[in-house]
Amino acid sequence: MKNLIKLFYIISFFFLGTAYSLSAEKVDYLKTDWSFKGLFGKFDRGSLQRGYQVYTEVCAACHSMKYLSYRNLAEKGGPEFPIIQAKAIAASFEVLDGPNADGEMFTRPAKLSDKFVMPYENEKAAQAANGGAYPPDMSVLVKARGGGVDYIYSLLQGYEDAPSGLTLDEGVHYNKYMYGNKIKMSAPLSDGIIEYGDGTVASVEQMSKDVTTFLMWAAEPHLEARHRMGFKAIVYLIILTVLVYFSMKKIWSRVESEV
Ligand code: HEC
Repeated sequence: MKNLIKLFYIISFFFLGTAYSLSAEKVDYLKTDWSFKGLFGKFDRGSLQRGYQVYTEVCAACHSMKYLSYRNLAEKGGPEFPIIQAKAIAASFEVLDGPNADGEMFTRPAKLSDKFVMPYENEKAAQAANGGAYPPDMSVLVKARGGGVDYIYSLLQGYEDAPSGLTLDEGVHYNKYMYGNKIKMSAPLSDGIIEYGDGTVASVEQMSKDVTTFLMWAAEPHLEARHRMGFKAIVYLIILTVLVYFSMKKIWSRVESEV
């Protein structure tokens, strides 16, 4: 009996402990329904395509995505732009190539195999243009931040006036969700800042959701394939469990009948 009470205490402390640690770290991020969450989760193609538009028309002025190539935009499981459109997107950017036969570098339109063009020559130039702060590369940014998609989605909508009494330095902005509330990126989005190709209304909320979905895909391009695998594995395990159960019944039925 004593042992049972002890066990009860240990278990309740364990639960209280985890409940406390969870509540202590939890930030109340803004919620939205992500289509890619859950076992059957898939990316919303329209959202990915719009998200690319937000990235390229707004964020790409400062943030690079150095692991992405233009061909990724047409690949299965991603935004799945028709290949002709992906080629046209690539061709709208200029890349430096060469040297040519005369030993000179030259620019040419980008091809599908080229990596996304970078907004700055190097990290120092990026910092110099942004008041000393470095706009991080966004290829895997979703993975690099605790809170992932919910954090980025909230951050983009988290700009507010600083509480009275708090003075911010030049170029520093107040954001509810940024660690320490101070961020050196001015609010990048405002209603109608872009015009969506598919006619969707470009509210800050909509653009935040779309660009975050796009960033999620960039960080996890094989998410859909992984979900399909996971589903197959579960079906396989269920079938295996049923088989094992019946074979166990069969084996033990013999043992019992002998008694
Ligand atoms: C004018 C340049 C500029 C534009 C445009 C811009 N950013 Fe930023 N961004 C920055 C800078 C600079 C930082 C670093 C801020 C800091 O460290 O205080 C940053 C940081 C971030 C961070 C990281 C915050 C953290 O946790 O450290 C995210 C996420 C982000 N930007 C998303 C975006 C998205 C999405 C867009 C497009 C909708 C965008 N940014 C457009 C300059 C920009």
